[in-house]
Amino acid sequence: MDSTSGYASEVESLFERYETRDAAAVHAPWYEFFPTPPARILDIGAGTGRDAAWLVSLGHSILAVEPVDALRMRAAKLHPEPQITWLADILPDLGQTRAKGETFDMVLMHAVWMHLTADERITGMANVASLMDTGSRLLMSQRHGPIPKGRRMFDVTGEETISLAAKHGLINLFHERAESIQAENRAKKIEWTKLVFEKT
Ligand SMILES: C[S@@+](CC[C@H](N)C(=O)[O-])C[C@H]1O[C@@H](n2cnc3c(N)ncnc32)[C@H](O)[C@@H]1O
Repeated sequence: MDSTSGYASEVESLFERYETRDAAAVHAPWYEFFPTPPARILDIGAGTGRDAAWLVSLGHSILAVEPVDALRMRAAKLHPEPQITWLADILPDLGQTRAKGETFDMVLMHAVWMHLTADERITGMANVASLMDTGSRLLMSQRHGPIPKGRRMFDVTGEETISLAAKHGLINLFHERAESIQAENRAKKIEWTKLVFEKT
């Protein structure tokens, strides 16, 4: 299995599930840390593009990175806003993204980090930090609880990520572990850690 295992075969149901979630509600707990529009945002593991489209509605422009072709191609059709650029790329290397030579005001990795192995997390954090300027923010969430069949996931603590981020000059501004906002996932005891970092 690799980090994207299980996604390509579930595209239909993922669009139904992810696109019906209200992005504003998903991001309410850390919205105070979002930049003032217009900002340049990198959304890594952008999935169906729900968050990218919402961020555009707020006045931002987005580089939406998604490695799974079937997700990315359908997402680009569903969300054709010119302020979203779709890119096939993958953590931990993010080679295509880094090749653009751009830095971002904010990096979003929503529900992605727990798919990476410990080694991938080490390389991935260095590459993500290299895409940020002083004052840029990284918002990331990681999942805890039973692992869905066919997916590869690891239970990564907030403390581990805070310590890894510190090695790249990313200071922690926000750390919250809370139960899922979805009733069906709460029943399965799924929790999420949300973390915000700022580059010094
Ligand atoms: C749980 S979904 C979250 C999608 C979206 N961020 C959201 O919140 O709706 C995880 C996403 O991460 C992507 N992903 C998995 N491994 C990845 C990797 N190594 N690099 C970048 N994205 C990855 C998957 O393809 C999938 O789109």
